Amino acid sequence: MRAYNIAIVGATGLVGSTFLKVLEEYQIPIQQLKLFASERSVGKAIRFQETEYYVEAVTPGCFKGIDYALFSAGGSVSKVVALQATKEGAVVIDNSSAFRMDPNIPLVVPEVNLEDAFGASLIANPNCSTIQSVIPLFALKQAFTITDIEYNTYQAVSGAGYKGIHDLEGKTKGFFPYDIQATAIPQIDVFLEDGYTKEEHKMMDETKKILHDSTLRISATCVRVPVRYSHGVSIRVTCKETIDLARVRKVLSAQVGLVLLDNPDDLVYPTSIQATGTDFVYVGRLRKDLNYDNVLLLYVVADNIRKGAASNAIQIMKGLMNHDQSR
Ligand SMILES: NC(=O)c1ccc[n+]([C@@H]2O[C@H](COP(=O)([O-])OP(=O)(O)OC[C@H]3O[C@@H](n4cnc5c(N)ncnc54)[C@H](OP(=O)(O)O)[C@@H]3O)[C@@H](O)[C@H]2O)c1
Repeated sequence: MRAYNIAIVGATGLVGSTFLKVLEEYQIPIQQLKLFASERSVGKAIRFQETEYYVEAVTPGCFKGIDYALFSAGGSVSKVVALQATKEGAVVIDNSSAFRMDPNIPLVVPEVNLEDAFGASLIANPNCSTIQSVIPLFALKQAFTITDIEYNTYQAVSGAGYKGIHDLEGKTKGFFPYDIQATAIPQIDVFLEDGYTKEEHKMMDETKKILHDSTLRISATCVRVPVRYSHGVSIRVTCKETIDLARVRKVLSAQVGLVLLDNPDDLVYPTSIQATGTDFVYVGRLRKDLNYDNVLLLYVVADNIRKGAASNAIQIMKGLMNHDQSR
């Protein structure tokens, strides 16, 4: 594989620093690496593969010659700077929510719809809880006709970046609306007029876009919990067919990127403890709803900073690199 010129915008952040870790682990061949953050961080040294890199501010022309630009600096930065990067010739993979629901921009989870990214100059990385949910749903779609989905999330504080972790550790106070050391908080992001939060809408809307099915009926309740890393999502799936658990196990076991952890007798089920630091989506607690033959319940955990953000973006980039090489 040829070596690539890569830029990271938001390199000093939680997702940005994980980009660097994952780039190294995945042995992405790099010719040039440029690291960008806000003016506050300009000149800060970041070590990567035995070399010191210095954080820069975004300036006109700074993306010229860059093949791939990975963005994790928030929506307002992406809205302006991602377009600059594409104009200057880079392929952008953006972690913010700025472009996710733009019908002209693909929203991609490589295990599900990598082909949507081929030929695009700007690709959106989905919301963290959505990424880990659509992988088992995609597998289930191979065997069942899904009509309804209900999400209930248990989301780690790191989903809100370093500020979230500092609040849980007691280093700061007041970042979350209530004391996260003392309570779960049934609010992530702002409330909208319909009573749902923006995070809940992201899960509902993004799932339909990634699975290419606008007819799905989806509801979501998103809750922040006092856990550092890895989100849990409890999913209730209604299908047209009667649920056959053996068939469910078969399709989930065959799904790339998914690990089935489902042996309650031995206390085997997904937790943040297994998921943190890995790029797999862990699925367990499989059971039928006792009231409805066509309803399946499952519980899904994944590392929100890795599979929910940095690793998913780098897997998209790697998929595009492989696709380009094979043409
Ligand atoms: N945490 C997650 O689980 C997660 C998951 C999926 C997506 N995301 C998304 O990823 C993005 C970053 O999240 P995070 O958790 O890494 O946040 P974070 O730890 O707060 O990091 C934010 C990064 O953005 C940089 N930045 C801020 N203003 C900038 C500007 N004007 N120009 C260039 N860089 C700027 C910051 O630089 P300084 O250090 O200089 O301030 C820092 O590098 C957000 O859009 C978030 O929604 C996060």
